[in-house]
Amino acid sequence: MTAQTLLLGQTLQFTADPFHAPLAEAVRHERRGGVLIEGGRITAVGSGDDLRAGYPQAEVVDHGDHLLSAGFVDAHVHYPQTGMIASWGKRLIDWLNTYTFPEEGRFGDPTYAAEIAARYFDLMLAHGTTSCCSFTTVHPESVEAFFTEALQRNLRVVAGKTCMDRNAPDFLTDTPQSAYDQSKALAEKWHGQGRLSYAITPRFSPTSTPEQLQALGALWGERPDLLMQTHLSEQTDEIDWVRGLFPERRDYLDTYEHFGLLREGGLYGHAIHLTPREKARLKEMDAALIHCPTSNTFIGSGIFDMKGLTEGGHRIGLATDTGGGSSFSMLRTMAAAYEIGQLNGAPLHAAQLWWLATQGSARALRIDNHIGNLAAGHEADIIVVDLASTPAISQRSTRAEDFWEALFPTIMMGDDRAIRASYVAGKKV
Ligand code: GUN
Ligand code: ZN
Repeated sequence: MTAQTLLLGQTLQFTADPFHAPLAEAVRHERRGGVLIEGGRITAVGSGDDLRAGYPQAEVVDHGDHLLSAGFVDAHVHYPQTGMIASWGKRLIDWLNTYTFPEEGRFGDPTYAAEIAARYFDLMLAHGTTSCCSFTTVHPESVEAFFTEALQRNLRVVAGKTCMDRNAPDFLTDTPQSAYDQSKALAEKWHGQGRLSYAITPRFSPTSTPEQLQALGALWGERPDLLMQTHLSEQTDEIDWVRGLFPERRDYLDTYEHFGLLREGGLYGHAIHLTPREKARLKEMDAALIHCPTSNTFIGSGIFDMKGLTEGGHRIGLATDTGGGSSFSMLRTMAAAYEIGQLNGAPLHAAQLWWLATQGSARALRIDNHIGNLAAGHEADIIVVDLASTPAISQRSTRAEDFWEALFPTIMMGDDRAIRASYVAGKKV
């Protein structure tokens, strides 16, 4: 028999989507709960006392008052931007040209790519994020470095080679054919190894010719089992630029749709300035919109319409967008989503924020059958959250009258200090 481990603490489980079900139906909170782990998976979740009595042979790890939750899932990051996060004063296009492209140029060097991949995963895990979906750079070496490191750590992650064949420096461009060939070869090598999946990754329409979008659309047609990630309607200047580059296309989304790059399994980062047609089409395709709130304020992009889009039934994930985003922390990201909701006249409930950062993002990445919840059968990617991690948070949470009021100060003011432990497939890291 494999060894069993029983984690004790407060537990938070989702039983439905809190955007569409009443709180009492959507969430189960146990003041003194337990999570049983066996062979890297969760095998039972329930009352701590019951699990203790039912599994007397299990090794018990008592996390006291801390909260046990599914690890955070960051649905859109750029791991190569780790080293230049928090670069000052530019909006999207200038920010890319000034800070991002020179840094991404370094990732043809496998040693540097490996160093940053390891640094990124260290930071990610310290912040309680156990899965992510990452852009890389144009260099296959950057994909190799990311997946090699993730495989060694047994992480469930998604990534793909970032394809660009125009409007970027020569040292960062490929061609329609090399983008197709390299993406295909990398997907064949890595997709399905360990817990890794591959996403076809055209960076965004302005940096791909129609021929490149066509080639990547064809690849997606041959490999519909892969995800596809890109950017959509982040800034108004960018949308004007797209209109100039693709005069025959109806709107920004159509620059993807026309070339076979709109389907279920598509992940569209930002999606702020959408037309009614774009919204309707994204919904019809059940494509995922990825909200990146710290990035949207940091680069000055605009207000994502969480209320309208959730009411419209869209599939939505939450993400840091490191390093256009200003943080590695999904707690900080939830806080920013709350603040943007307030500016949009619709504050999100703590349960909705936590759901977005775990199950919502896993659902966007279509890996919610594996991760994103404390549920029997799920892989044991679990975090231990201290709800009194700083004096400022502690003095507020101690006067809370219910669990949500105790959790909310950590959402608004918490960071990596709140993450006491992260478990990856049942192993503490
Ligand atoms: N649009 C195209 N590339 C990027 C990027 O690296 N970051 C952000 N925030 N937007 C983009
Ligand atoms: Zn991005």
